[in-house]
Amino acid sequence: MVKFVKMRDPSEIAEAIAKEFITQLQIKRDSVFGFATGSSPIPLYKKLIEDFHNGLTDYCLAKSVNLDEYIGLSPNHEQSYAYFMKKNLFDHINIMPKNTHVPDIKDNYLKDTSEYQKILDSVGQRDIQILGIGTNGHIGFNEPAASLHAHTHIVRLTDSTTKANSRFFKSEDVVPEYAITMGIADILNSRKIFLIATGCSKASIIETLYNTQGFVNPQNPASMLFLHSDCTILVDEDAASNIPL
Ligand code: F6R
Repeated sequence: MVKFVKMRDPSEIAEAIAKEFITQLQIKRDSVFGFATGSSPIPLYKKLIEDFHNGLTDYCLAKSVNLDEYIGLSPNHEQSYAYFMKKNLFDHINIMPKNTHVPDIKDNYLKDTSEYQKILDSVGQRDIQILGIGTNGHIGFNEPAASLHAHTHIVRLTDSTTKANSRFFKSEDVVPEYAITMGIADILNSRKIFLIATGCSKASIIETLYNTQGFVNPQNPASMLFLHSDCTILVDEDAASNIPL
């Protein structure tokens, strides 16, 4: 079941999800978390760091997997998702580096995704999966298409995603063309999913998702979340501006 929840602003959303992390780690010290990058989860990661410094959480046995990564950027590149996660979360909590996993394609020519799939399969079901949403409905880098991949695969980013993500790069033409991403079945393999949608740019896709509740459509990959039993879509006032919440 998918629940839409409207909150005042991104920090209220961050607080609500951070409470779930506290409870989750109290119940299970070796919890498995699924993380996203991009702007949407940044307030949450700030709150997770704050809670850790306040002694409310302990990640020493926790494990994490990330949704996706650009192909062609080294893990030390400032725009790589590996770098993002270290800078925005991992370097500030006590999760062990060996327990954090961001997809990494070592050989750009082979484009072999089996290594990351093995990691996902070995860490098992995520206790909490964090998602953002693209303005075209993508989750992870599962872009709108006639059919969607169940598992880890290489994807060519759509023009709209390249445009949206170019804000982090010097120019649009240096945004990597390809990425590796978990597939839809991998994303759904989570006990609880929290999707964060904030800001006016997300109002239209949230409106579509809200108005097509219960229907899955590969042209709107986020609609696959309607197949999940415990998914909460947290929207701030701007992202909720076209829906009657
Ligand atoms: C990032 C990811 C993407 C983003 C989405 C929204 O790991 O998987 O699906 O969540 O592109 O990005 P922001 O939050 O920057 O609007």
